[in-house]
Amino acid sequence: MNKKITAAITAIGGYVPEEKLTNADLEKMVDTNDEWIRTRTGIEERRILRGPGKGTSDLCAPAILELCKKRGISPEEIDVLIIGTVTPDMFFPSTANIVCDKIGAKNAWGFDLAAACSGFLYSLTTGAMMIESGRYKKVVVVGADKMSAIVDYADRTTCILFGDGAGAVLLEPNYEGYGILDSILRSDGSGGAHLHMKAGGSLRPSTYETVANKEHYIYQEGQSVFKFAVKGMADVSAELLERNNLTGEDIAWLVPHQANKRIIDATANRMGLTKEKVMINIQRYGNTTSGTIPLCLWDWEKQLKRGDNLVFAAFGGGFTWGATLVKWGC
Ligand code: UT7
Repeated sequence: MNKKITAAITAIGGYVPEEKLTNADLEKMVDTNDEWIRTRTGIEERRILRGPGKGTSDLCAPAILELCKKRGISPEEIDVLIIGTVTPDMFFPSTANIVCDKIGAKNAWGFDLAAACSGFLYSLTTGAMMIESGRYKKVVVVGADKMSAIVDYADRTTCILFGDGAGAVLLEPNYEGYGILDSILRSDGSGGAHLHMKAGGSLRPSTYETVANKEHYIYQEGQSVFKFAVKGMADVSAELLERNNLTGEDIAWLVPHQANKRIIDATANRMGLTKEKVMINIQRYGNTTSGTIPLCLWDWEKQLKRGDNLVFAAFGGGFTWGATLVKWGC
């Protein structure tokens, strides 16, 4: 009898640009202060991808090349590349197409997946199903965003939050029950009113007027999103534990989307987790949208042990949200 195939994460790569934008820098740009930013969000600095001709693909490529090096494979061995992003290099071709060319992934096909801050979770579940089907052996899933491209640095309510970065994982078949074990993914399009970009799409194409009105930047009603995020991320994480007959004690790590430290703390409390079990790097990178969860894995990789139960949890624009259970198998 054939053994069940699961999708194990067998390598991790990451990339953040060198340039830092600190709270002190932002104090000089808008009416804000370090204390407000730290206490309301937990953020101390973020990374910014600067320079002409640099897009999200330039965050993805080094992250994937690192992953290939660690695993000892050539990019030509990649079957599929999925990039969770809301800041693609262009509408088309997809960032995945551009990245495949940049890294020499000549035998891969791929696509971008837009689910805002849940982009990595949506992409991971999609990639895992490709492995589980038995059809593909090496699927690379990336969460990447160049948020600095869509942030208004004159708007203190959003410019303090976001940063640029990318994290990547390699999925391969596993026959011993390691890898992505379960996912609950949700969406509610009525939440779009609270967090979106007003223009640039087919509904409201770019014009002089849309540019003058600053409609190509992130629009967020912070407080409303906050309320939905706290409930959404905590509910779905608790539901995931319950349906897998697990409690907080069975979980080695919570790997949460890094939007606000207060949202992370609420989710951890609801799951009955102590703070030692929660990955938090928001202070260093801010909110990198799709990048947050794989960048946590990148930072904590050395501390992960075979057999550890991990819960990934996210909430973001859409609204989109979800939680994924992973048994670490590296
Ligand atoms: O990842 C995608 C999903 N996004 C999220 O999950 C974000 C969810 N929302 C949040 O994290 C929080 O709502 C924010 C961090 C965005 C804002 O924190 P808040 O505690 O909800 O603040 P607030 O919007 O209620 O604003 C409180 C006060 C206001 O002043 P008044 O009206 O009380 O006088 C704001 O004008 O803080 C003011 N304020 C600021 N002050 C200094 C807003 N932004 C700033 C700032 N510096 N940067």
